[in-house]
Amino acid sequence: MNIVTVRDYRALSGMAAGIIASQVNRKPNCVLGLATGSTPIGTYENLVDMFREGVVDFSKVTTFNLDEYCGLDEENPQSYHYFMREHLFGHVNVPEDGVHIPNGMAADVEKECGEYDEAIKRAGGIDLQLLGIGHNGHIGFNEPDDVFHDNTGMVRLTPSTIEANKRFFDRVEDVPKTAVSMGIGTIMAAREVLVLAGPDKAEIVEKLREESCSPRVPASILRYHPRCTLLFATAK
Ligand code: PGA
Repeated sequence: MNIVTVRDYRALSGMAAGIIASQVNRKPNCVLGLATGSTPIGTYENLVDMFREGVVDFSKVTTFNLDEYCGLDEENPQSYHYFMREHLFGHVNVPEDGVHIPNGMAADVEKECGEYDEAIKRAGGIDLQLLGIGHNGHIGFNEPDDVFHDNTGMVRLTPSTIEANKRFFDRVEDVPKTAVSMGIGTIMAAREVLVLAGPDKAEIVEKLREESCSPRVPASILRYHPRCTLLFATAK
């Protein structure tokens, strides 16, 4: 994993958007893996600006999001469907049928997860996967565990993730306890991975420099990815 330290969040967002736009310009029909959370918001703002300026065109792009809470429908402002519309899809020209986000409302979640991995394969695999990282080292909603989970599946959120995400909800009780997340194997199969970490993630980034690979720090597996860059902003 190539860890690149950048001056601040603005620089991180500009660099990340540049990397994504270059991928789209190099391969207009590429497959992007996308992330939610507060860290990629600046990246999406930059991409929207670049689209408006005619620097990048998403009309042939396919996207697959990492995860979605269980039990929140698309119109719920805390859902990741809503987040993606607000921050990216509502402002750029990714075709509607090219957008994929796990369905946290599926009656048969297992079937939905299997179909999600199949759809990624059918699309030719992910060219560039964007990731945030949790304070506990989670990627997507793959929480610290005894084993790495390979495929997309339903996961239980840890108390620390529920605590970290409560800022988006009125009450901590409202944070869903489960989610659907791409698996570690799904993420590792992406041809390139770009991880974004703000200054609040200094501790976990330090751990990634030091530690060997363990499912207790899910992001540590990225050290075995052949093309993974982590952009770390040392200031807000
Ligand atoms: P954040 O979340 O960008 O809101 O810190 C990252 C994550 O939990 O993956």
